[in-house]
Amino acid sequence: MTDCPTKGVFLTFEGGDGTGKSTQADLLAKRLASCGREVCRVHEPGGTALGEKIRALLLSHEQDDMVSLAELFLYEAARAQVMAQVIEPAYAQGKVIICDRFTDSTVAYQGFGRELGAERVGRLNALATAGHRPDRTILLVLDEKQARSRVIARSADGRGDRMESAGAAFNARMLEGFDDIAAADPQRVRRVDASGSIEDVYGRVVSQVVDLLPELNGVRSEGVL
Ligand code: TMP
Repeated sequence: MTDCPTKGVFLTFEGGDGTGKSTQADLLAKRLASCGREVCRVHEPGGTALGEKIRALLLSHEQDDMVSLAELFLYEAARAQVMAQVIEPAYAQGKVIICDRFTDSTVAYQGFGRELGAERVGRLNALATAGHRPDRTILLVLDEKQARSRVIARSADGRGDRMESAGAAFNARMLEGFDDIAAADPQRVRRVDASGSIEDVYGRVVSQVVDLLPELNGVRSEGVL
């Protein structure tokens, strides 16, 4: 993150649905806490009382007629709230913020998936975040079939929530969006192979953040699940 006087570390996890972001974010948070770091674990959309209400609206099939621009503004509204109430204060206190999805999801899902355009989404992202950006982003990449079967397995009715059931063409555009983001900003955005065991993936994640969090150096992941 830029423009903050005290040095926190702001990490985000990104990728398609079913790639294991929450599992890896939780694991990293636990590991860092056990090293004595103060960690702020958050997810988007959500992380505040208002944000969780917005999340419920965004994911419910009751809102299947939501237009794309309304969807975009709702994601940005949830983000403005979590930035002001959670992320900015935690960063100012020197905490490690681990956020499950952030602005790159909006570029990929709304900019590419809904075809609202990366530039337009980028402008709203900048407004909602006051220009703050993650220090490092882990983009988890998994074979589409594998990711889809995870989504189906965890969904109650076999179709997934409103966003997860947006269709194959939407999904392909969204994944292309993440590829574009990673190609444009390789220093911040690190592509990580999300296949294999949780431990395998965790090891790959750590190798991409250890320069920012040297306390992770040489620490094995066993026992932190
Ligand atoms: P989650 O299931 O990973 O918590 O995210 C909820 C859904 O919202 C997921 O399908 C991705 C989607 N999403 C967007 O479409 N745009 C965004 O800006 C964010 C943060 C999430």
